[in-house]
Amino acid sequence: MARTPSKFAFTLIILLSLDFAHGFYRSLSPEKMGLKKEKLSHLHFYLHDIVSGSNPTAIRVAAAPTTNSSATSFGFVAMMDDPLTGEPEPNSTLVGKAQGFYGSASQNEYGLLMVLNFVFMEGKYNGSTLSVLGRNKPYSKVREMPIVGGSGLFRFARGYAQAQNHLFNLTTGDAIVQYNVYVLHY
Ligand SMILES: *[C@@H]1O[C@H](CO)[C@@H](O)[C@H](O)[C@H]1NC(C)=O
Ligand SMILES: *[C@@H]1O[C@H](CO)[C@@H](O)[C@H](O)[C@H]1NC(C)=O
Ligand SMILES: *[C@@H]1O[C@H](CO)[C@@H](O)[C@H](O)[C@H]1NC(C)=O
Ligand SMILES: *[C@@H]1O[C@H](CO)[C@@H](O)[C@H](O)[C@H]1NC(C)=O
Repeated sequence: MARTPSKFAFTLIILLSLDFAHGFYRSLSPEKMGLKKEKLSHLHFYLHDIVSGSNPTAIRVAAAPTTNSSATSFGFVAMMDDPLTGEPEPNSTLVGKAQGFYGSASQNEYGLLMVLNFVFMEGKYNGSTLSVLGRNKPYSKVREMPIVGGSGLFRFARGYAQAQNHLFNLTTGDAIVQYNVYVLHY
């Protein structure tokens, strides 16, 4: 005896075939996704990049044979899991982490390629992330990097981050960097 599809399955098949009438893609209204009004948020925090001591938060993972003889450490790559805090003091509230890597990508002046996610761990943005992909010239006063996307409450995010040294220890290389992030999201 042939099985007849249930009314539910039949309705589902019709709905799916209507929604994906052209195959694997379809148009969707932003309202249907719950996307109503784009808003602008300003986030402010301090990044702690600790390269010295027994518990570094950023470690060198790769280099080229010529990196040490390069004036700009060209080819150097470090992986980071840097704490983000609400105030400059390392023991102030942890609001998230900056996870990713940076590498020296310039041969003529010191310039870093930054590829990282801000992973927030506090307040309403706990669990949401923002992705940074940009150029960081560590020796200029204010560095600007694009925010290219996000997840969770930061879905569809775009914007920019401005970084400014709060403290840079020339002896150890450790840095506390102030971040102002401006981001459009829903
Ligand atoms: C480059 O210098 C680092 C220390 O800064 C050292 O660990 C590494 O072995 C050196 N690499 C070469 C190829 O000399
Ligand atoms: C953080 O450290 C400073 C000294 O560096 C201290 O005065 C302050 O009480 C500490 N704050 C907390 C919340 O532990
Ligand atoms: C952030 O979310 C995680 C997972 O849901 C939870 O375990 C943690 O307590 C939250 N942190 C804060 C500060 O609310
Ligand atoms: C830099 O770090 C060294 C070693 O921890 C410390 O003695 C010195 O006070 C620090 N300098 C600044 C400006 O924080």
